[in-house]
Amino acid sequence: MEYIPVLLNAIQVDTTVGCDLFIQSGTNKETRYVLYCSGTKVIKSDKIADLQKHQVKYLFIRKIDQKIYLRYVESSLKHIINDNRVDVKEKAQVVCDVAKNIMNDVFEDPRSGENVERSKIWVSNTIDFIIRSKASFSSLLSVVSHDYYTYTHSVNVSVLGLLFAKYLCFDGGEMQSFGTGLLLHDVGKTQIDSEIINKKERLSEEEFARIKMHVEIGDDILRQTGCAGSTSFFAVMQHHEKHNGKGYPKGLRGDEIHKHGKIAGIIDVYDALTTKRSYSDAKKPFEALKIMNREMEGSFDDKYFKDFILFLGSGGEQQLQKNRNIFPIPEISTARNGAV
Ligand SMILES: [Fe+2]
Repeated sequence: MEYIPVLLNAIQVDTTVGCDLFIQSGTNKETRYVLYCSGTKVIKSDKIADLQKHQVKYLFIRKIDQKIYLRYVESSLKHIINDNRVDVKEKAQVVCDVAKNIMNDVFEDPRSGENVERSKIWVSNTIDFIIRSKASFSSLLSVVSHDYYTYTHSVNVSVLGLLFAKYLCFDGGEMQSFGTGLLLHDVGKTQIDSEIINKKERLSEEEFARIKMHVEIGDDILRQTGCAGSTSFFAVMQHHEKHNGKGYPKGLRGDEIHKHGKIAGIIDVYDALTTKRSYSDAKKPFEALKIMNREMEGSFDDKYFKDFILFLGSGGEQQLQKNRNIFPIPEISTARNGAV
């Protein structure tokens, strides 16, 4: 049986977790896990206080119970974010773990209104976290995933997008609809054959045409599941549009693209380049921005692209250096003459 640690501070008094909690005992050579609290029992404050008195930071759950535990944490995410006992890095980890679990469920059942609703609530809590804590910026950047899966990519894009939106002084309502759109921007891929999505070789014209359909399918899914009426659609519908009109599905150009679409397009490409794929290593941030500037000339809105570079350099520089190696801020040429 495999066990994994869970944060004691994420457990709320007078709640039931839904899965058994264990305490680790024994030595490194012979670790044992002793049942501490059954999943159906209410956890009382004296029990938690007793563990805290003994400097216990982590409890353990069976790995097979991870989904149950993450649903529990999701339900108390607001409390965890507002809990001063929980370290900001731990909060960031919980925020990302919960989001990955939600996105897993979204990708399994994209037409579930409940899953879309969970996505919206997660965005709202994450905005709260970002607004309340300055340190959330570097903490969130340090826990975003560096391996590419459609669901981790969706979480990364949403986290980066929300941080960037804060940098651009979006108000809370706009951050909410933008962040939800980013989280769900690739939801249409669930309806595309996974062999095409994961194909390492060059796609045929028909295959590429099929992939392109994920945008309109995603839009359709969101309309059916209750996201209608918000501006979330712009991130979904326009994240593959390009400034020069060479994108899809509509070939919009310049300011025909909504600012959410413009920003979503930048972050989508940036995250894809800086995470590890089955066919390529993760690029360093500087390298990724250089590729975006030189090899994808004309794809992005100049102003938002420059803002994005300044944003990465402003607060995340140290964190990015630590996590993704060197990040000198490149000089991006407005004339796009390749002089980076
Ligand atoms: Fe996409």
